[in-house]
Amino acid sequence: MVKHVVVAIGALAIAATAVIAQGDPIAARQAVMKDNSAQARTVREMAEGKRPFDAAAAKKAFASMADGANKFSGLFPDNSKTGGNTKALPVIWEKKADFNAAIAKFGKDAKDAEAKVKDLDTLKAALGEVGKNCGGCHNAWRAKS
Ligand code: HEC
Repeated sequence: MVKHVVVAIGALAIAATAVIAQGDPIAARQAVMKDNSAQARTVREMAEGKRPFDAAAAKKAFASMADGANKFSGLFPDNSKTGGNTKALPVIWEKKADFNAAIAKFGKDAKDAEAKVKDLDTLKAALGEVGKNCGGCHNAWRAKS
């Protein structure tokens, strides 16, 4: 009984994501990135000692980034090259395979980070690996504001 409810909620969440993606992919992908930013802050604050180390919370943050990466590549349909204050560069649509590879690498690094984190040292190392993806991708594929 409980299991059915969970499945139903999961299905609703997927349906809602699909609607957002169709309705406004630019807003949807910017929302994914805002979430990345919030998750990265949580982990960075732990690394800097501004927040107590919490392995479960760190794993959750990396898992959320991996989840975002899964959604991200589907949020660049041809009709979303302009509008909505997007900073996505046209080269994304010219080199879609390369762009998707950059997303996949980010997703994989976030997944690996989720698996590896067990103390502050592994957290710092994982954050370093995952963090390179942010700037690396933005430099190549996002307009400087
Ligand atoms: C594979 C490429 C890629 C990776 C990896 C990536 N980003 Fe982004 N990010 C983008 C693109 C493209 C945009 C512009 C989206 C748009 O405006 O349509 C963006 C936009 C953003 C924005 C602005 C969102 C808004 O409100 O407009 C933030 C904040 C951000 N990214 C943070 C991050 C952080 C933090 C990470 C790493 C944890 C990260 N990004 C990793 C490609 C990437």
